[in-house]
Amino acid sequence: MEITRLSKFFLENYTPVFGETILDYGSRQGEIAASLDCAFADHRLSNETAVGDKRYVSRGQDLQTNYDAIVFTAQFSTALNLQLVRELLSILAPGCRLYVLLERNYTITPFDELMIPYTMTESAGGEKLLTFTRWDGPIDAAEKPARYTHNVGERVLYLAAGPGVFSGEKLDAGTEALLHVVKWNNGRVLDLGCGNGVVGLVASLKGAEQVMLLDSDLRALRWAEENALRNGVKASVVASSGLKNLTQGAEFDLIISNPPYHSDYSVAKSFIEEGYRHLSIDGSIWLVVKNAEWYRNKVKTVFGGARVYDQDGYMIVTAEKRALRFKPAPEPKTTRKHAKRMARSKA
Ligand SMILES: C[S@@+](CC[C@H](N)C(=O)[O-])C[C@H]1O[C@@H](n2cnc3c(N)ncnc32)[C@H](O)[C@@H]1O
Repeated sequence: MEITRLSKFFLENYTPVFGETILDYGSRQGEIAASLDCAFADHRLSNETAVGDKRYVSRGQDLQTNYDAIVFTAQFSTALNLQLVRELLSILAPGCRLYVLLERNYTITPFDELMIPYTMTESAGGEKLLTFTRWDGPIDAAEKPARYTHNVGERVLYLAAGPGVFSGEKLDAGTEALLHVVKWNNGRVLDLGCGNGVVGLVASLKGAEQVMLLDSDLRALRWAEENALRNGVKASVVASSGLKNLTQGAEFDLIISNPPYHSDYSVAKSFIEEGYRHLSIDGSIWLVVKNAEWYRNKVKTVFGGARVYDQDGYMIVTAEKRALRFKPAPEPKTTRKHAKRMARSKA
């Protein structure tokens, strides 16, 4: 298992204390848990790890509270990092430590907002390790959701989400472009990588008969579920990395996604390939992207064709799944001599 520079920095600075139970929250592949032989937790199912004792939770408070220390690898969103620090500190007993690992390009200023003292160690490369000691007082770890509305014709959707959820504070411009271009139908819709669920909820207001909200981020999914309830939309909610937790025969008429960006396109690749398998004949996939080149080629390879719409500077790549037309296999070519030999061997 590859150990990131950040995790290595922690392991070099951490001296295990006999009998101390430590939890690794969110190291890249669970490498801290593997090195220390301890438990691993994360809210992202896409962070699959090879470590044995792993828990996927939709909030920090869902973890059991018997850890003496937690090491949290900070993530992309500052607001989410602050929220997770509160949640993880709240489950520790007074005097226990929370270690927070920050990549070299992350600043520490936002952590002062917590009003909880910490010490800092910095590596020569700029990685930082903050050590918080749980103080003997209450910690308010409740999420403070952002809220906004989105109009769909005459209807208004009420959307709420905690920190770190995509489109959580306002509708993403790419998602908005996608919602303009999709040719809606009243069939079965999969909102793939649903975030706060806005795409699936719009699909429902546009007449979808069935809506599934799917994401690998359990925190996002919790808000998607709540938003569906809040808006009176009946939707099934599925936690899955890619489409692998769907039942084999699950079929959709529309798959709609604003896929996450990864430089190796690994998630996008699985969305397109697995999406194709779960589409009905004549069902279509709709993806909003910034750089259409890779997507157009990939969708074309899998679906046999692709169309691209330009909406407000965003590219929407779409394709329909066509029934396979099997050409009858051509008669095997044979020579007169070979045909004679075959007739003789049959006689
Ligand atoms: C760009 S956001 C789009 C969110 C929402 N659909 C919207 O348009 O506002 C991409 C979403 O994909 C989810 N995601 C990332 N990797 C995933 C995976 N392997 N499987 C399923 N969902 C994934 C993320 O958690 C995130 O919610």
